[in-house]
Amino acid sequence: MERKRKILVTSALPYANGDIHLGHLVEYLQTDFWVRFQKMRGHECRYMCADDTHGTPVMISARNQGITPEELIDRFHKRHLTDFTDFKIRFDNYYTTNSPENRELSEAIYEKMVERGHIEERAIHQLYCNHDRMFLPDRFVKGTCPSCGSPDQYGDSCDSCSATYNPSELKEPRCVICGNTPVERESMHVFFKLNDFRPFLKEWVSGHTSKEIANKLDEWLKEDLRDWDISRDAPYFGFQIPGMKDKYFYVWLDAPVGYISSTKNWCDRNGRDYREFWQEGNAELYHFIGKDIVYFHTLFWPAMLSLAGYKTPDQVFVHGFLTVNGEKMSKSKGTFIKARTYLDHLDPIYLRYYYACKLGSSVEDVDLSMEDFVNRVNAELIGKITNLASRSIQMLAKIGLTTGELSGDGRALVKRIRERAGKIAELYEGRNFNRAMMEIRALSEEANKYVDDNEPWKVIGQDREKARGILTAVINAFRLLAIYLKPVLPVYAEKVEELLNETPFTWESAQGVLEHHEVRPYTHLAQRIPKEAIDAIIKSSMETETPAKEKQKEKQMEEQTSGVAEIEYDDFAKVDLRVARIIAAEDIEGADKLLKLRISLGTEERTIFAGIKKQYKPEELAGRHIIVVANLKPRKMKFGVSEGMLLAATTGDGGVFLLGPDSGAQAGNKVS
Ligand code: MSP
Ligand code: ZN
Repeated sequence: MERKRKILVTSALPYANGDIHLGHLVEYLQTDFWVRFQKMRGHECRYMCADDTHGTPVMISARNQGITPEELIDRFHKRHLTDFTDFKIRFDNYYTTNSPENRELSEAIYEKMVERGHIEERAIHQLYCNHDRMFLPDRFVKGTCPSCGSPDQYGDSCDSCSATYNPSELKEPRCVICGNTPVERESMHVFFKLNDFRPFLKEWVSGHTSKEIANKLDEWLKEDLRDWDISRDAPYFGFQIPGMKDKYFYVWLDAPVGYISSTKNWCDRNGRDYREFWQEGNAELYHFIGKDIVYFHTLFWPAMLSLAGYKTPDQVFVHGFLTVNGEKMSKSKGTFIKARTYLDHLDPIYLRYYYACKLGSSVEDVDLSMEDFVNRVNAELIGKITNLASRSIQMLAKIGLTTGELSGDGRALVKRIRERAGKIAELYEGRNFNRAMMEIRALSEEANKYVDDNEPWKVIGQDREKARGILTAVINAFRLLAIYLKPVLPVYAEKVEELLNETPFTWESAQGVLEHHEVRPYTHLAQRIPKEAIDAIIKSSMETETPAKEKQKEKQMEEQTSGVAEIEYDDFAKVDLRVARIIAAEDIEGADKLLKLRISLGTEERTIFAGIKKQYKPEELAGRHIIVVANLKPRKMKFGVSEGMLLAATTGDGGVFLLGPDSGAQAGNKVS
């Protein structure tokens, strides 16, 4: 027996502002396969994960929905965890980076950085939106590419010509949130001098990730490493930097610390010490990540860990990206599929099996071809593997549900399958799930050949005990396959345990044999994938796209306005109606109905978008008093965020008449 290992495993922490999709699952599923394999082998293996909660996108998304960032991350935490649980991804702990443990551990690492002289402060210039009163991250600025002139490109790189640049180099830059032109502004930032760790990293990298990745990193490590900007200005959703006013840790500083704090949180609840895993010598540490976040995990992270006295990862396992039908996932093609959409139509077992067939230890991208997915699962998992059980157990039922004794060639078959346990374990250990599945498939073919050669359906009429012997071999062969498949198909394996009247399989169970053993009547283990389910998934993935959503909303609004439902006074009182003065109105290029209005509510100014372009000229609006709903949730529209709604009479045939108070009313007055 192998010595009992203590292993800590992580998957990258998903961002808390979006749902889990099939791309993410490439990672969480392969990690789950590996962790379950280690557990089956009897090792102590702990799978830690959490939501990555901080940063500007979470803050803005919460603001747009009219909720706090805490509410937003709470919602996503629940959604993520149910999606993962329903896919049978089993974490030991699924925590959050917005936790007291994470704050404490992040601060402690930062303090070590300061103490050891790896921190430097200096002023930088960044785009700032005067309207939103914030510095804009690269992805919150759009404009014309300075290199090729393509319009509508992000602040960091051009989708059209792949040029990379600074946001300030963009032509005609605008704030993604409000559409206004940002200005350049200076701010002090805190930098981590990553280059101090270049000699350490040069040594470290080659032994701790794959050759492919190490080679790429060597390229970077040939030159000096740039300082890493670890601070962000308020407003920001994150941890404040100790001793600094209005400065926050950049989300990527505290995100990986989430691996440690999730462990700490679990340890504290289980009477353990997280240092067993992160500081002492005998535990192993592995991170599973996608190829887009290599830099963070193989340069910044080991540097942070080593300077703070933690152990560095034994291996960083890097995987490629998911493509669907050979292309990048696409909303318009319905191939940007959310985990939930899949679950609404199909059992997770199919995707687990298929991903296992496709995933190896390289960083190559993984393709989910819908046609291949259906064919493969139906032909292999159902046709070759599951059929062994359904046919043999149903036949055995005719002569009493007890296995007999293996005959000579039956025993030989079972022995051959058992002898592959070591090889298959090696493949799992090396994350070559695809090759492990190939082995299992080949063994199932051998077992099927044995059935065909021995024709138990004929023998059963002539010699019951001989037939029992044949079926015993088939059942034992199938049993071994189910054991080998258990890390990938845990629920399937549990059903087999039940069917065969056994205790939960461990890897060791492959050494046993079922002779003279009572089994249970056959119940379905798995069914074929119905082709219609795939069409339904694609269809509903297309429907979740924004234009469709917008239409749905419009329809709902129409229904609401034409309805005559009675409401309580309290419902009415919830609506905060106010007099507003229009400060300015402007045309929006590309919009045929909307005007953009700047309004005053007395003490406060707002931007609202109103569908009155056909009826009103911008220049005749300034100075007018109107009535607005002041507490409507801000709504993100194509041209920016609308922070309220004005009241107008509509005639049904396109007429729109603004409502206003009699003279004397002032901006800010409450309307009741
Ligand atoms: N929050 C960061 C990770 C912080 S780790 C300290 C992040 N989040 S993510 O939600 O964008 O991605 C989580 C993981 O899923 C990453 O490892 C990423 O590579 C992986 N994938 C996200 N989309 C993917 C595909 N389309 N295909 C394969 N993996 C993908 O990055
Ligand atoms: Zn703005």
